[in-house]
This record gives sequence, C-alpha cells and structure tokens, in this order.
Amino acid sequence: MQESSPLVQVEQVYKVYGDGTARSRSVAATPFAVHALDNVSLTIAKGEFVAICGPSGSGKSTLLNLIGTLDKPTNGRVLINGVDVSTLKGNALADFRRNTIGFIFQLFNLVPSLTALENVMLPLIPYRRKAGFNVPERARELLAGLGLENRLNHLPGQLSGGEQQRVAIARALLNRPQLILADEPTGNLDSQNGSEILALLQRLNQEQGVTLALITHDPGIAAQANRVVQLQDGRLPDVEV
Ligand SMILES: Nc1ncnc2c1ncn2[C@@H]1O[C@H](COP(=O)(O)OP(=O)(O)O)[C@@H](O)[C@H]1O
Ligand SMILES: [Mg+2]
Repeated sequence: MQESSPLVQVEQVYKVYGDGTARSRSVAATPFAVHALDNVSLTIAKGEFVAICGPSGSGKSTLLNLIGTLDKPTNGRVLINGVDVSTLKGNALADFRRNTIGFIFQLFNLVPSLTALENVMLPLIPYRRKAGFNVPERARELLAGLGLENRLNHLPGQLSGGEQQRVAIARALLNRPQLILADEPTGNLDSQNGSEILALLQRLNQEQGVTLALITHDPGIAAQANRVVQLQDGRLPDVEV
C-alpha cells in the first residue's frame, strides 16, 4: 500500500446546477442556479479512509458524484490516479469507472426484480468475456464472504436492510475497485446493522488497502476514519479537520 501517493485529486472544483435562466415562461423569472460546490480542493491518498461530513445540502453527494465521474464539474479538475477524468469520454470513461470505482448508496439501489446474485453480477454482465475472471463464481464468493451464501436467489424485497446493503457492497467489490465511494451507507440501517456494515468497509480498507471515501452524519462513524472533511455551504475549510 502506497500511503503517500494520491489516488484522488479534486482541484478548485465548482459545481453550479442550472444556468441562471428561468425554467418556465409561466413562472416569474426566478433564476435557477444552485452553487453546490464553491472552490473545493481535496486530495485523498491511496489506502486512506476519509469521512465527508456536513449539513444536508452542503454538497456532499455532489462532491462524491464528481469524484465518481458520475457528473462533471462546472470548473476545476478531478484527477484519479493522475488521470484528468474530463479527458475520458463515452466507453473510455465507462471502462475507467467500472475498473476503478465501486459505489454504495444509502438506499442500496438494487434492482428489485433481480436476485441477490444477479444484482451483484449486473455491472459486469455486458463485459463477462472481458472480465478475466469467472463472474458468477466471484459474485457467489463475495456474497458468501459477506454471510449471504443462503440468500443468493432471494430478491431484494425478501432481504433485510443490512442484507441488502451487503449485496450492494458485494456488487461494488465485483470488479476489485481501488476506490469505494459510499454515500451515507448506514443512513437507512439500525445501529446494529450500521455497525456491521461499517466494520465490513473498514476491513476492506485496512486489510485490502481499498481507499474509502464515505459520507456520514454519524460522528461515531466519522471518528473511525483516518481523516474527516467538513463541507459547509459547498466549501471546505482551508485547513482540513
Ligand atoms: N441535480 C440537481 N439539480 C439542482 N440542484 C441540485 C441537484 N443536486 C443537488 N442540488 C442542490 O445542490 C446542493 C447540494 O446538494 P447535495 O450535494 O445533494 O448535498 P448533500 O449531499 O450534502 O445533502 C443542494 O442545495 C441541492 O438542493
Ligand atoms: Mg447527499
């Protein structure tokens, strides 16, 4: 694990939603522009566990989505492994994202009509031949490793919240990402299940060196991180706490 080399570099990033023009003629000209991020810079080292905190609406999800290449900054740059992700387009961007990043969301984001096993395999189903490993086998192993060996053929609706989040973690891990981005992963779980999910993510970070950026409202969870950054109205303080 190379602790010191940066995996993520967010450089003077701004994100404005909307263009400042009225959305509809029938509504009086109310400008629609939200300055969600305002000159944010953040470096995350390989192997780090960073907690991203801040009030609702402070720009946490926006920042995570930009790091995850799901959205583009209005201004500034995001580099991952030194690659300016704005230079990647179409398939190259999709390949890069799939090979580098795993996402975990508060509401699990599983496909309700697919089984646990199918949900885990889903990101690689179109790429099974290119994957370089046996996708169903790895999906089964990941689920078994998360204690879900008897839930492979259950639908999400037949699983508890904690189990659904473990399926989502297995899905995020399928392609051996270097970086896991988790947006309030325990926000929809009771404290027992939340602690178990956090312990799982910490083990991935500590034992496998997976870099972890995690949004949380829970000070107990933030306290487990190597570093806490606090967003306030789309800004990070100059000195990170
Ligand atoms: N797609 C969008 N279109 C317009 N405004 C948005 C969009 N997404 C987020 N926002 C606004 O940007 C600000 C930051 O949102 P977000 O990043 O979701 O905050 P957080 O995750 O900290 O609650 C909020 O004011 C939110 O309403
Ligand atoms: Mg959010």
